[in-house]
Amino acid sequence: MLESVIYMAKVKGKKRLTKVGLIVLVIIPLLVICGVVGIGYMHSKDNKSLNNNSNPTSPTSANESNNSSENNEEPQVIETSTVIRTKVGESVDLVSALAGENPNKGTVEGEYDFNKSGVYKLRYVTTDSNSKKTIQGFTLKVYMDGINLDLSKLTPGNYKTFTTSKGYEGIVLNDVTYIEGFIIANKTYTVPKDYGTSLEKETQAAFDKMVAGAKKDNINVNIQSGFRSYETQSRIYNRHVTTYSQAEADTYSARPGHSEHQTGTAMDLNWIKEALEDRADGKWLFANAYKYGFVLRYPKGKDNETGYMYEPWHYRYVGTELAKILYNDGDWITLESYFGITSKYND
Ligand code: DAL
Ligand code: ZN
Repeated sequence: MLESVIYMAKVKGKKRLTKVGLIVLVIIPLLVICGVVGIGYMHSKDNKSLNNNSNPTSPTSANESNNSSENNEEPQVIETSTVIRTKVGESVDLVSALAGENPNKGTVEGEYDFNKSGVYKLRYVTTDSNSKKTIQGFTLKVYMDGINLDLSKLTPGNYKTFTTSKGYEGIVLNDVTYIEGFIIANKTYTVPKDYGTSLEKETQAAFDKMVAGAKKDNINVNIQSGFRSYETQSRIYNRHVTTYSQAEADTYSARPGHSEHQTGTAMDLNWIKEALEDRADGKWLFANAYKYGFVLRYPKGKDNETGYMYEPWHYRYVGTELAKILYNDGDWITLESYFGITSKYND
């Protein structure tokens, strides 16, 4: 292009004019071109540096991202040991429970359902007068129906907790052990001498329903032995020990303090003998009791879990949700195996 411009200047005549022509036709356009290219280069550099802002390795962008974390990012969740307990179908005002006397109420974040038993990990978010936000993690525990633990009796410090080998929560309150809210009496766990006086209200109500249901199928269900006091269990156990031996008695009779009958949630049904499993009433109970919230407590071949030989007559109330799980389409799961607890005497 430069050559053709000089050529045109030469063709158009005088030397002075040629110099002016050179300036006008060559140098100015060159300067313009250099200017355009220069501005374009700077512009592309700007673009690059903007893009670099999203690159965390760029020092500039690192500073900027620090600034944005102060302004926009959520503060870290502070995990707490707070557990709010309720029972399926019973809702709790979580904010009031968490705020307590504090007039500065926060909000609860996370998914939970008061109609579905489970353990929910949630967050309580508060903002103070300086606009400082705090996020505290807490646990909402929605127990199954049929639990025996009276949640209103739990006050800070009056109970102890532990975790079973399968990760379930045990609570010891007034010398009574509850796993996930269900009272446990077996060879490992005892109930106090003066615990209970009769069948638990909920257990009795569920039993009455079951009797009515069985009647519709022409089956009679009756209680041979329901609630037993410590003294009654002592008499029964000692009679077996005297008649046979302690080792023998321990395979089918609980030592006083260890019997589920002392909890008011267990009962021996119908004619007590092994043959019950082959009779219509025994079969009906085996297949239907769980629908009313009862479990066959000492299933066949599970002696090493429950600590006792098979008892086709001994049913325990646990509510319909757990009973359905433990029924397991007829292949009964024991409470011990489900919760991950033992049934063994110390000696
Ligand atoms: N027969 C059961 C184990 C009891 O004595 O409680
Ligand atoms: Zn029994």
